[in-house]
Amino acid sequence: KARLYSGMQPSADSLQIGNYIGALMQWRDLQESYDAYFSVVDLHALTQPNDPSELREKTRRTAAQYIAAGIEPAKSTLYVQSHVPAHAELAWILGTLTGFGEAGRMTQFKDKSSRYGQDATSVGLFTYPVLMAADILLYQTAVVPVGDDQKQHIELTRDIAERFNARYGETFRVPMPMIQQESARIYDLQNPVAKMSKSAETDAGVLWLLDEPSKSAKKVMRAVTDSEGSVRYDRENKPGVSNLLVIYAALTGRQIPSIEDEYAGRGYGDFKKGLADVVVSEFEPVRNRALELLDDPAELDRVLAANAGRAETVAMETLGTVYDRMGLLRRR
Ligand code: TYM
Repeated sequence: KARLYSGMQPSADSLQIGNYIGALMQWRDLQESYDAYFSVVDLHALTQPNDPSELREKTRRTAAQYIAAGIEPAKSTLYVQSHVPAHAELAWILGTLTGFGEAGRMTQFKDKSSRYGQDATSVGLFTYPVLMAADILLYQTAVVPVGDDQKQHIELTRDIAERFNARYGETFRVPMPMIQQESARIYDLQNPVAKMSKSAETDAGVLWLLDEPSKSAKKVMRAVTDSEGSVRYDRENKPGVSNLLVIYAALTGRQIPSIEDEYAGRGYGDFKKGLADVVVSEFEPVRNRALELLDDPAELDRVLAANAGRAETVAMETLGTVYDRMGLLRRR
């Protein structure tokens, strides 16, 4: 089986529906046909301010949501990034092969650093994509399923892998991004031209997987639309309605035209009510299962430890080859 790798930051108490549609739903299906690795990237989360005890909790919560959404720890390797030290080690190595200008061209870095200002922008934020390259390359990954916003980071990963291979001999498999067309970007319900994000400014536009489902239903009912009144996909002129249609289609597996037909001649109220029901019935079982898993953190920690052991075996093999190829004297 070809190898697949992906991860999410434990940057909030709950994942949002963009993480669910853009990543988790794909992961769940893909784990059947790939040798899949899914990490909770806690080292990446350190690039944002964090309360230490909250970070631990968020890490467990993120892992619990993976499992609740259908990632099976017996089938896929589901682990916490910092449990496998090779990630940080390879990140250092790859940093020596990454250009300063090259890293500076990452749009996510440019956006975040211009928001934070020079002094609040850490070196860690700058090297974030290098750590991400280490995650992926350690496992000789063939494909990386992600949302649209991570595409540039995967391209950098490919460049770094090719550079290493050219300089030191074939070592890394060069990975391909795997990006779903329509659902690759879910927008904020209150500001449907901005990506929905765990760190959004207002809560009203974000649907959280672990929220009380009735709360999510209310947010759907209050989502921004337009004054035309017809349920029709038109990204340019009707971003709000189009976003809701994409969510509807992704969660039900239906095609957008069939949903448009169903709601033809009916108002936005009906359409939103329909979508609210879809969201509630999708989220309810996932939420219940996640909360159940979080009731027994010791068992969850055991599962994560066993999976980290599996990951470490693969990671250490790649790291050893890298050290050899680069001429580091090995401890005997
Ligand atoms: P993160 O934690 O920001 O997001 C996790 C995944 O969710 C996707 N996503 C979305 N998809 C659609 N619509 C949205 N509004 C939306 N918001 C987020 C992201 O594209 C991502 O797939 N750098 C990564 C984590 C990472 C990683 C890796 C991923 C670290 N190492 C190695 C793949 C491979 C990140 O910040 O994801």
